[in-house]
Amino acid sequence: MEQVELSPGGPRLSRIVAGAWRLAAWNWSAQERLRWIEGCIDLGVTSFDHADIYGSYTAEGLFGEALALRPALRESMQLVSKVGIKLVSPNRPGHRVHCYDTSAAHIEATVNTSLAELRTDHLDLLLIHRPDPLMDATEVAATFERLRGAGKVRHFGVSNFTPAQFELLHSRFPLCTNQIELSPLHRAPLEDGTLEQCQRLRVKPMIWSPLAGGALFTSTEPAAERVRAALQTIARRRGSAPASVAHAWLLRLPSQPLPVVGSRRIEALREAAAALALRLDAEEWTDIWQAATGHEVA
Ligand SMILES: NC(=O)c1ccc[n+]([C@@H]2O[C@H](COP(=O)([O-])OP(=O)(O)OC[C@H]3O[C@@H](n4cnc5c(N)ncnc54)[C@H](OP(=O)(O)O)[C@@H]3O)[C@@H](O)[C@H]2O)c1
Repeated sequence: MEQVELSPGGPRLSRIVAGAWRLAAWNWSAQERLRWIEGCIDLGVTSFDHADIYGSYTAEGLFGEALALRPALRESMQLVSKVGIKLVSPNRPGHRVHCYDTSAAHIEATVNTSLAELRTDHLDLLLIHRPDPLMDATEVAATFERLRGAGKVRHFGVSNFTPAQFELLHSRFPLCTNQIELSPLHRAPLEDGTLEQCQRLRVKPMIWSPLAGGALFTSTEPAAERVRAALQTIARRRGSAPASVAHAWLLRLPSQPLPVVGSRRIEALREAAAALALRLDAEEWTDIWQAATGHEVA
């Protein structure tokens, strides 16, 4: 699978990224987790998306425990993590309120914990998880400089930022990505300037919940049923899986997004990878868009 430069001078990630949000819920042994990591890498899915808070602060440690069974794999992978949300959790008894924290102290302490949990000496990419009304862009930029200087984090980006929020931090420090939610069932970034900003700055977005967290295939909402029917029609015509068509719908966007796939099944990652060979034409792309909105384009 191709590796792509996330932004000019940014990290090279696999075009399909594996997401670790649900890892703790899979209730796997360390060996099973290692097999999943190896299965991803065998497909060319070498980039793994984490956050400190996943699995109520346990997912990074579960991944690191599996990686410790075959530490040389670290050389073949890129590790992405996030910081900036504080959850109320038995694993963080000091947290009283679910809130955001983008202070230098919280970012630096969290990165140190993520490195220890993932059993690595550096992150390839660190994202501010959500926009924080109390974020001081100058303080965050200085923190990024220190982390980069210390060799702890190589590149930086954000997640769920509006174009204005992205612009502010990007004016202080070059950001490599905005990780956003996008699928036929969540289309706001197609209309709110997010993708235009990515294209203008040559910053590729990372896409979370590319299959709407599975709802594309399980929801009985009318929009999901219409999209499913459109995906199935195109999949039959193209001889591919409906999930591949769903990923191809995202990959067709000129901002060149990187879908972050959340499945425990290697077959689902294979279907995502197959989408790289499936270029939808404008009519097919619009069939899915119209199915999602429920009306024809103007
Ligand atoms: N930045 C953020 O704020 C943010 C927020 C949420 C997530 N993320 C990242 O994005 C990643 C992906 O999110 P996601 O897990 O919601 O993505 P997703 O790929 O849209 O959804 C994955 C879920 O859909 C199910 N699924 C996949 N294919 C299916 C099919 N053909 N039929 C039925 N169900 C299917 C999977 O179940 P199986 O495992 O059984 O296949 C899994 O539960 C996360 O792991 C995380 O790294 C980031």
